Amino acid sequence: MKSELRARLRGRFEPPGDKSIGHRLALLSALAEGRSRLEGFPPGQDCASTLGVLRALSVETIRDEDAVEIEGRGLDGLELPEAVLDCGNSGSTARMVCGILAGQPFTSRLIGDESLSRRPLDRVVIPLTRMGAAIETTQGFLPMTITGGRRLRGIDYELPIASAQVKTAVLFAGLYADGITRVKESVPSRNHTELALLAFGASPIIRPGEIEIGGGSSLSPGRFKIPGDFSSAAFFIGAAAFLAGSELVVDNVGLNPTRVAFLEALQAMGADIEVEAAPSVPSAEEPQGRVVVHGRELQGAEIPREKVPALIDELPILAVVAAFASGTTRVEGASELRVKESDRLSAIVEGLRALGADVTESEDGFEIRGGRALRPGRLRSFGDHRMVMAWAVAALGVEGECGIDHLDLVKISYPGFWQTLDRLVC
Ligand code: S3P
Repeated sequence: MKSELRARLRGRFEPPGDKSIGHRLALLSALAEGRSRLEGFPPGQDCASTLGVLRALSVETIRDEDAVEIEGRGLDGLELPEAVLDCGNSGSTARMVCGILAGQPFTSRLIGDESLSRRPLDRVVIPLTRMGAAIETTQGFLPMTITGGRRLRGIDYELPIASAQVKTAVLFAGLYADGITRVKESVPSRNHTELALLAFGASPIIRPGEIEIGGGSSLSPGRFKIPGDFSSAAFFIGAAAFLAGSELVVDNVGLNPTRVAFLEALQAMGADIEVEAAPSVPSAEEPQGRVVVHGRELQGAEIPREKVPALIDELPILAVVAAFASGTTRVEGASELRVKESDRLSAIVEGLRALGADVTESEDGFEIRGGRALRPGRLRSFGDHRMVMAWAVAALGVEGECGIDHLDLVKISYPGFWQTLDRLVC
């Protein structure tokens, strides 16, 4: 990828529909009593994996260009799949679906691609087993078999790691359990499941740090407009923030407070960012609005540990921004990055060093002493869509040609990424 020093981003764009929200709305639509319509459904392969799994469970899904309609079969209407359920590259699909399959009368088997088959499942297997599920993994990984016909019981579960996927799996299993299922979290993870359960009429009880759901609540279908994916927009927001002379407007982007700590981190680095939230929405709806960014020189910042879950998917792009800022940026408490689509901590450190950046890796984070003039280098993606997009932004700040592998991986979460980048770079 070739770029001129001091590339800028100019213009406006709308990111694709939010992937995290898309998975949840699709899964709950399948369990609702009737047809739901999800507009702005994410175009990437991850949400297509969730739809594929639902189709294999006999759920009718009808896609048009921007929307998907899902014929809900009720909590007990899924049917024995004829083949294994392929979750592709999608950790969210594997973990969330696991919570639903634990409550079915039939047995199912889940597989995934090479990257997903290296990602840990114990985090969902442990609480679901406590609820009475029978799950067998391959030494903690996919393939996994979920034996049906088990009666589930509600549990009180304190999340040992801040993981919204685990929270979701337990709450989805809670829909099938006798009694109340309660999930507690000491550090907030994204709350899309809580909002989605409310929107489907499931009456969860939501208190700070705690959510509970009763078994057997029936779900009502609905019509939803999915906001733009903040995590996809983040690559452009980060680029525009440090590339002086940039002027970028991001329309219709999700602004759920449990997702947008990246904006606070950029502001702490001195970024010029305005957020215009759309007028306040009913409590079950996802906040959204517009983000306006003007590029300027940035300084490093300390990222508070407790903010890490709310910017976990943005850490690759945050690291790139930090390499171009003066001073030190430190991230701690991010060991979860080691078990994402790649080991993102070592991927970040290897790539930034290839550009000549001054970076130290720790067990659970990194320190970047930014501000050095960076040189072109070879940037490895390790099969990870977010690393590809973070490296594309890094290449914009370097004079000369950088090599990035597997450019097509953007299809996992943001198929139009390269076209949007081409249009905005000047
Ligand atoms: C997600 C939660 C996060 C995030 C992932 C999507 C979700 O993972 O990294 O990309 O949609 O719930 P964890 O739940 O493992 O923290």
